[in-house]
Amino acid sequence: MADNKNIKLRVEDLTLIFGKRKKEALAMLNKGASKEEILRKTKCTVGINKANFKVYEGEIFVVMGLSGSGKSTLIRCLNRLNEPTAGKVFFKDHDITRAGNKELMNTRRNEMSMVFQNFGLLPHRTILDNATFGLELRGDSKEARYERGMEVLQTVGLKGYEEQYPGAMSGGMQQRVGLARALANNTDVLLMDEAFSALDPLIKSDMQDELLQIQGKLHKTIVFITHDLDEAFKIGDRIAIMKDGVIEQIGTAEEILSNPASDYIKAFIEKVDRKTVITAETLMFRKPTIVQFGKDGPKGAIRKMRSTGVYVLPVENSEHKFLGYVELADMIQLAREKERTVEKALKTDVPSVHKDYTVEQMIPLISNNSYPVAVVDKEEGKLIGLVTQTSIVIEATRYDDDEVIELIEKANEI
Ligand SMILES: Nc1ncnc2c1ncn2[C@@H]1O[C@H](COP(=O)(O)OP(=O)(O)OP(=O)(O)O)[C@@H](O)[C@H]1O
Ligand SMILES: [Mg+2]
Repeated sequence: MADNKNIKLRVEDLTLIFGKRKKEALAMLNKGASKEEILRKTKCTVGINKANFKVYEGEIFVVMGLSGSGKSTLIRCLNRLNEPTAGKVFFKDHDITRAGNKELMNTRRNEMSMVFQNFGLLPHRTILDNATFGLELRGDSKEARYERGMEVLQTVGLKGYEEQYPGAMSGGMQQRVGLARALANNTDVLLMDEAFSALDPLIKSDMQDELLQIQGKLHKTIVFITHDLDEAFKIGDRIAIMKDGVIEQIGTAEEILSNPASDYIKAFIEKVDRKTVITAETLMFRKPTIVQFGKDGPKGAIRKMRSTGVYVLPVENSEHKFLGYVELADMIQLAREKERTVEKALKTDVPSVHKDYTVEQMIPLISNNSYPVAVVDKEEGKLIGLVTQTSIVIEATRYDDDEVIELIEKANEI
């Protein structure tokens, strides 16, 4: 995501140490001591170690890591449910770490709401009263509260359940109420700590879809905590991976998959289903040789094929719009027939995609005609790259890339 986007949250060198001898522990940390060493010498636990990141307006920023890596500690520093030991948290250029009590309360009620793992519903209140609890604390009138409550319950798919009690509802439905309550306050930022982790897998997947759908409409800024990498990759625009209180890498799913920053992350992502994450943009080769329609005739096409060593080339018009492919055999035929243009042999019924198509979406485009998949821009249909069928096959089969390449090479020798 580009830096010219509005920054909603900015975290600078955020550090949190649990225990009594914080100063000593911090001094050790600043000198490069390890978490274990600090624990041994000071009995203090380093919860977060100099975290730096920005969260842009409208994005889902996922913080992911194993149990105990510091995710909850980190998210709770954003609204100061946990008190940072050092470093800063800015909300829209406003330093949260220096906010007074009143200001903090205001921030929690009106700027950043939180959704918890265990839903946090009050059992003796109806769904409507649970969803509007934050508004009640804020002092809104009953009428205003209920009007807003009905709206957000509809948003999360719970219309008709207003008068029910939480105990009568499934986990998934309870968490919808939790989400409705966070949405009711109409804050720009949502902090979600393992919001879906307690749900069974199918309901979890539904909730993820629901969240993405709601996000598509409301464009909140969401910090979402999970220990589930598949969940992180599914819903995160960008993902921060934590280990022992340190953020090891921040990036999009693709950036992390194609360029893991450490062996730890490499090991972590091995299990991920790359074909749902890797896109045409990653696989394509840019600047392919192109036959210019109207400019290059059959002979020109043959010359370009000879010089690149391929027998199929893409064709574009003078506005660089992708038109299709031409093949060497056809070009030779047309040249013999003294045709001036490639038009007669232009194959237009060929696969083309946008750059954000995943491998999974491209698999059905593989066919025995062996044309590459053209990657064109959404606006004008300009050709920006080509994805070979082989690279799709390699990605689609979840083997180690080298192994597959070897298999293909062997097959070609026969
Ligand atoms: N109140 C506390 N006092 C002392 N240590 C704590 C406290 N809360 C958390 N820790 C420690 O800080 C580290 C980070 O814990 P945290 O709860 O943030 O991890 P997490 O990534 O959210 O884990 P989980 O996936 O289990 O929720 C752990 O080593 C934990 O034991
Ligand atoms: Mg946690």
